[in-house]
Amino acid sequence: MSIQWFPGHMTAARRKAAETMATVDVVIEVVDARLPEASTNPMVHELRLHRQRPCLKILNKADLADPGATKSWIAWYARQPDVKAAAIDARNTGEAARIPSLCQRLAPHRNDATKPLRMMIMGIPNVGKSTLMNTLVHRKIAKVGDEPAVTKSQQLHCLGVQHRLIDTPGLMWPKIEHDSDGFMLAASHAIGRNAVIDEEVAVFLAGLLLARYPSRLSARYGFSAEGLDGASVVEGVARRRGLLGRGGAPDFGKASLTLLQDYRDGKLGRISLETPESRRAMLAARARETAE
Ligand code: G4P
Repeated sequence: MSIQWFPGHMTAARRKAAETMATVDVVIEVVDARLPEASTNPMVHELRLHRQRPCLKILNKADLADPGATKSWIAWYARQPDVKAAAIDARNTGEAARIPSLCQRLAPHRNDATKPLRMMIMGIPNVGKSTLMNTLVHRKIAKVGDEPAVTKSQQLHCLGVQHRLIDTPGLMWPKIEHDSDGFMLAASHAIGRNAVIDEEVAVFLAGLLLARYPSRLSARYGFSAEGLDGASVVEGVARRRGLLGRGGAPDFGKASLTLLQDYRDGKLGRISLETPESRRAMLAARARETAE
C-alpha cells in the first residue's frame, strides 16, 4: 500500500509553519505515544534543524500506549541533541501543565515578561494538538475532532506574561516512506479514510496484535489467537460479533472497522504499535532490501 496524501492546504500550512518557526524559541512537537516515530513528520525535523530550534517532543495519548514502550521511547529521545521528551494525556491539566517549564529548560534565556518564551505546537493531524492547546489555555479555543486535519489556521495565545503559545494546523508530508508507518498512521486515524483501505489496515493491525499482544485479542473477542494470521483474526471478530453477510459469510469490512475502532478507543488495552527496537529492526530490514 503506497500512501500519498497532500491536500493543497498542507502546502500552504508548511510555508506558514516555516515562517512561524523563525519567530519562536522552542518547538513542541506532538506525536502519538503509540507510534512516536511513525507519527513524526520529517518536515518538522527539517524545518527545526534549518532554524536550529530545540524541541520538546510530546508523546501524547500516553494513556492508550504500552507504558514499557513509552519508557523506552523517552530514553530514545533523551539521547537526541536539543530534544526533551515527555509522555502525557493531553486531556489531563496537571500533566499538560509541565510543558512550559520543560520548554523553559530548552531556552533558559527567554525567562521574563520582556523576553517571553515563545512556543509553537506542531504535529500531524489527530495526535491531540487542539486538545493540548485547550488544556493549556484552560478553555475551548481549538476544535477537537477525531477526523484528521480539523485545526486549520495558526492561533497565538498568552499563558501568563512569560509564555506565548502558537498553535499550527496538522501538517502531513507528501509521501510516507515506509508502508508500515502508513498502516500505523491509518490504524490510529491520522490519515483520513479517503487515503486508505480499512480492510488492509485492519489485517495489518491484527498481525501486529498477534505478534505482540495476542492475549488482548482473546480477552476482547473470546477466541484463541493461536495459529491465526491477520485476516483470520478479522474473520474471527466478524463471527464473534455476528457481523455476517449473505449466506452467513463474515462481513470483513464491518469487522475491520470494529477492530480498528476498538484499538482507537483503547478497548484492547494499552497498546504501542512500535518500540525503539521494532523501529530499528524495520529500518535495518529496509536498508538491507535497498542494498540488495
Ligand atoms: P489534532 O488537533 O492534533 O488534530 O487532534 P485533536 O486534539 O483534535 O484530538 C484528536 C482526538 O484525540 C480527539 O478525540 C481527542 O479527544 C483525542 N485525544 C487527544 N489527546 C488525547 C490523549 O492524550 N488521550 C486520549 N485518549 N485521547 C486524546 P475525539 O474522539 O475525536 O474527540 P472527543 O470526542 O474526545 O472530543
